[in-house]
Amino acid sequence: MKKLILLGPPGAGKGTQADLICSYLSIPKISTGDMLREAIASGNELGKRVSGVLNSGSLVSDEIIGSIIVERIKKQDCQNGFLFDGVPRTLGQANLLVDMNVSFSHVVEISVENQIIIERMSGRRFHIASGRSYHVDFNPPKNIGFDDITGDALVQREDDKPETVLKRLEVYHDQTKPLTNFYIEESSKSDLNYFTVNGENKVEEVFKNIEDQI
Ligand code: AP5
Repeated sequence: MKKLILLGPPGAGKGTQADLICSYLSIPKISTGDMLREAIASGNELGKRVSGVLNSGSLVSDEIIGSIIVERIKKQDCQNGFLFDGVPRTLGQANLLVDMNVSFSHVVEISVENQIIIERMSGRRFHIASGRSYHVDFNPPKNIGFDDITGDALVQREDDKPETVLKRLEVYHDQTKPLTNFYIEESSKSDLNYFTVNGENKVEEVFKNIEDQI
């Protein structure tokens, strides 16, 4: 059974590759970022608690993320595998998954340099309901400004402003990058496959590289 984690900095292309992998493997994408944005859009209690955190580029607490994941992976569609996009994001979250006995078949790290990330974020256009992302130049939708599947209008994310992107990159290097060593070590003592791909290649080349290894 395929259970994957996609690691990588903001804007590395995790969401883009997650959609391709999930469609290829017929497994659900579990993106905590998408779930938090949905909560904010619906105006519910969780959304009110996390909205400021997302807009500032900081991380939501491990406690909140833990409770979201516990509920999500209980659902029927996760019985035959799933893909985690953007979670875990801290060693605390990774250890929580160990405590919950959730194991993984693959950890895929997508690497991209900071400068390229900043360029990508400024041109990103987003479909909030599904989490699909496009880029005005590198990955444009069929009709400019509209989602390919639903035809809904695309938006720019609040946290894609340059100053917030810099903050998100800093948070990534401080709190998420240590997961690389965590999962390399896990792979040395279990069946877990850990590998990195160069996320600076074209979308379809990055996917081909991942497809070959999963
Ligand atoms: P989240 O939504 O997870 O954001 P992120 O990890 O910062 O990642 P992004 O969605 O920004 O980028 P991506 O890697 O998916 O790239 P994409 O495919 O869009 O989290 C948002 C916030 O929620 C966090 O800051 C935090 O506050 C909170 N949060 C979420 N999960 C949390 C957790 N577990 N714990 C605590 N807090 C949490 O691609 C980017 C752009 O590049 C697009 O325009 C795309 O079209 C383009 N592109 C993609 N691939 C390529 C390519 N190969 N070549 C050229 N362009 C490309």
